[in-house]
Amino acid sequence: MSILRPRKIICGNWKMNTSRKKALELVLNIEKNLPKTNIEVIICPPFLYLEGIFNAIKKVKLGAQNCSAEKGGAFTGEVSAVQLADFCKYVILGHSERRIYQKETDEEISRKVKAALKAKLSPIVCIGESKSERNKKQTSKVIKRQVLAIIKGLSKNEVLKTIFVYEPVWAISTFGSKEILKPSLVIPEVRLVRKIIAAKFGKDVLKNIPLLYGGSVSSKNAKEIQKEKEIDGVLVGVKSLDAKDFVKIVEIFNKDKNVSNR
Ligand code: PGA
Repeated sequence: MSILRPRKIICGNWKMNTSRKKALELVLNIEKNLPKTNIEVIICPPFLYLEGIFNAIKKVKLGAQNCSAEKGGAFTGEVSAVQLADFCKYVILGHSERRIYQKETDEEISRKVKAALKAKLSPIVCIGESKSERNKKQTSKVIKRQVLAIIKGLSKNEVLKTIFVYEPVWAISTFGSKEILKPSLVIPEVRLVRKIIAAKFGKDVLKNIPLLYGGSVSSKNAKEIQKEKEIDGVLVGVKSLDAKDFVKIVEIFNKDKNVSNR
């Protein structure tokens, strides 16, 4: 009997990289080499390049890297979820770089999640502990706090549109991670995220809520990650700027015969 799993997702977070020209070249290169697949392949370029890329893509889906918690109005420099919804289906929220550099709080992230859902965007929300929190054995506490803040006030329908990413800060390459990820190491955390969601919404929702892993994902460790049946895909940072490596990651996940198109 095959177990029902959520759809598979590979998401590239370009962060504050590329130029207008390079962004277009990169996405065209990815699209040209992408295998036929049921996997949802998402790229998240900088805001500025969303429209140009939106007009050029045929296969990949678009996501933003952040949105405002506000609907609109006098918020200089901000971009609302409603504005993004003209181009995007997804938005990354609660990324650790924003939690750390922009001092985003759980409460703010929760407001952004609600704003995104209201604008019919699917939030891709990141959770994960820092190295010192892990060393102090606070991982479960941090995950619980972050997940509970995200799901607070969401309806069952809304949580079903949300994608969760377990992305431990210690594993992110831009924070200087030299850790070679052993995917089996993060399975207890992945299970904990599911347990918290199930405790509020019932186990049944889990078959439709993708749970991704993020942090130093590359074509070198993708095979090992893909083998972990409790991980439904990956959030890729630096390697999503390399079309060859990013497509290879998709190819590796595409080998899974149980790729669902739900
Ligand atoms: P990385 O970044 O793959 O470069 O570690 C992941 C992320 O920050 O989303």
